[in-house]
Amino acid sequence: MIPAKIIIDKKREGKPLGSAEIREFINGFVSGDIPDYQMSALAMAICCRGMTERETADLVEVMMNSGKCLKWGFPTADKHSTGGVGDKLSFLVQPIVAACGIAVPSLTGRGLGLTGGTADKLESIPGYNASLTLEEFEKVVSDVGLSMTVQTSEITPADKKLYALRDVTGTVSSIPLITASILSKKLAEGADVLVFDVKCGNGAFMKTPEEANALAESLVVHARRAGRKCAAIVTDMNALLGYAVGNANEIVEALAALGSKRFGTGRKVPRDVIETSLKLASAMVSLSLGTDEAAALEMCRAKLSSLAALEKFEEMIAAHGGSLDRFERLLKTPTFRFKIQAMRSGVIEAIDAGKVARVALQLGAGREKSTDKIDHLAGVTLCVARGDRVAVGDALATLESSTLNNLERLAADLLQAFQIKR
Ligand code: URA
Repeated sequence: MIPAKIIIDKKREGKPLGSAEIREFINGFVSGDIPDYQMSALAMAICCRGMTERETADLVEVMMNSGKCLKWGFPTADKHSTGGVGDKLSFLVQPIVAACGIAVPSLTGRGLGLTGGTADKLESIPGYNASLTLEEFEKVVSDVGLSMTVQTSEITPADKKLYALRDVTGTVSSIPLITASILSKKLAEGADVLVFDVKCGNGAFMKTPEEANALAESLVVHARRAGRKCAAIVTDMNALLGYAVGNANEIVEALAALGSKRFGTGRKVPRDVIETSLKLASAMVSLSLGTDEAAALEMCRAKLSSLAALEKFEEMIAAHGGSLDRFERLLKTPTFRFKIQAMRSGVIEAIDAGKVARVALQLGAGREKSTDKIDHLAGVTLCVARGDRVAVGDALATLESSTLNNLERLAADLLQAFQIKR
């Protein structure tokens, strides 16, 4: 056993670590033999000095093998998003792909900080169980061809432990560490095809195209090294996706975009959500079926317009115990609402996604700490999009919460997110 301090010293000096050193260090951290302070020191050294391609591949492999790795006997694909504001794309992409006959085993996360979590959003549907056991997950994927549930502790325990440490030691923003974190989970999930949606902009954690491209490239290189068919698409996160930021309101918007009459009547169609979803879904379908992108896109559009994707999403919700009847009733629960209006006329030049996310978080739609409870009905729903013309007094957005706390102050903060040019 190589002493942990020697390995930390080596990385601090910028030298590449050997495969056995990486394996022993990570396994020692998972078993508790290596304490958090030594793991934090190594994570910081990796942040500052980086890793070679071979070292990153070793880290991916050892983290993936720290828990169970799933195997499916049929074609599978999944998408991973690096997280954005109002990102409800999974509720379109995954059902569209499943409706094309490719199973989607999607292990997903909870929200923390500014980015919401797919599992939290789904849990706003009464009865929806987003904490399936692995056996239940395997059954829903086999029966329905689609399941979205929280990653269990049997999958990549190394990432669970390391991510919690990185979160509080300023060591999240490192391409090798992010690559190993994301890929270890996605590889363990067992999907044959992986498509990465790397968000770029002020509402994402990759703020510049250079950073986003570097992460996209790293994910693709390492997913291919691990034998997966994959693609990465860098998508804009300087503006929100669609109009809703929260939990229940994002599910409603997704159902509407999938063509639901029951939840869609009278709503604006979020064209950006639909087009980005089709782009990601067709990349997954094209890689899975070996068809060209144009044919895959046509197939995905057909699954959306025929409502086959909506049916698949509803089937999955029911298989997880969720009830859309109860969801419809929940949406009628009285909440506190506050509408903000334009103070000047002109064109909406920008809507700061980061600012909107901070307001939604403080309304109760997200968590500052992992133990915080979510208010599923809280959130922000925009009435306008970038490029729209507004007059003084036109509604810009509605804030909604189950409590009255700070609503007026947050409304004033939200107004700052809108840039209106005369
Ligand atoms: N998402 C992850 O799963 N891991 C990271 O390190 C960053 C984003």
